[in-house]
Amino acid sequence: MISASNLTKYYGDFRAVNNISFSINEGEITGLLGPNGAGKTTTLRMLTCYLKPTQGTILIDNVKTSENPLKVKELIGYLPESAPIYGDMIVYDYLLYAASLRGITDSEKKIAEIALLCGIREVMHKNISELSKGYKQRVGLAHAMLHDPKILILDEPTSGLDPNQIIEIRRLIKEIGKRKTVILSTHILSEVEATCDRVIIINNGNIAADDYTANLHSSSARQNRIIVKITGADYGALSRTLASIDGAGPVEELHGGALTGASVAVSAGKDIRPDIFNAVKENGWTLYEMALEQQSLESIFRQLTTGGENHES
Ligand SMILES: Nc1ncnc2c1ncn2[C@@H]1O[C@H](COP(=O)(O)OP(=O)(O)OP(=O)(O)O)[C@@H](O)[C@H]1O
Ligand SMILES: [Mg+2]
Repeated sequence: MISASNLTKYYGDFRAVNNISFSINEGEITGLLGPNGAGKTTTLRMLTCYLKPTQGTILIDNVKTSENPLKVKELIGYLPESAPIYGDMIVYDYLLYAASLRGITDSEKKIAEIALLCGIREVMHKNISELSKGYKQRVGLAHAMLHDPKILILDEPTSGLDPNQIIEIRRLIKEIGKRKTVILSTHILSEVEATCDRVIIINNGNIAADDYTANLHSSSARQNRIIVKITGADYGALSRTLASIDGAGPVEELHGGALTGASVAVSAGKDIRPDIFNAVKENGWTLYEMALEQQSLESIFRQLTTGGENHES
């Protein structure tokens, strides 16, 4: 269990993290999601004891980071934003060296196990500088896991990887997440959906949302809209009819094309499509199109991180 309370970090006069509190349960994969400069790396560096908070308390398994950083570093494996991997070393030697620094005794056995899990057995005797980014990232992950930490903290683990490698690393994280508590940072919403049980959205050093990934989806249903396109009536008649349906919200005109088009908002848990169909039929209009338009998580994210504006960029 990880808990951060009233965490604040100033760099000089600049407040990068502003009084945030959260807790993370054991065994969950949590995504720290936010745009560039949101404060993700700063937060993760405080959790891992690489940076001292200006204010606030962090408890990792009931150990205060300020009181016992060595114990905390034992509990945590950390993959930094740009993994500091030694370019001119053989993978195996690098891991062996890292294990010796950690004081790991059965290091050969340990490395073999982790190489298998991280899928790096075939590159163990290659020079790190020759590896693709994806494999470098796997070696970084293996390094972070050598001492078998309970908690893994991964700062943008898929950044800079190609789509195939992204899928592979996500699969690996999910696999690791079965046995460990994982916190990863990302600015990609679909990454959180694909990988995380929980999401903490952070923007300008503040928490904008903290929820289970599944709930974020259902809360988006609040803003569903239904697109209706007909012939046989003008927009005025169509919008009055739509607005009179029980459960319908504001109606907006859809411009363009030969059809009369409208988009109608519907409240959570309501599906008024049968009512729309019947109303169109009763009026003797012809229905050309009816579609449920779900607000995308991308747009929720934009709303949360831009203070309600919906930037299309
Ligand atoms: N050492 C530092 N000195 C001064 N300002 C810093 C320092 N490190 C980070 N910052 C600033 O603090 C803010 C948060 O930075 P941080 O690296 O935590 O963001 P991030 O969410 O990890 O961003 P990114 O997605 O780009 O990695 C940014 O405005 C950044 O410029
Ligand atoms: Mg960062």
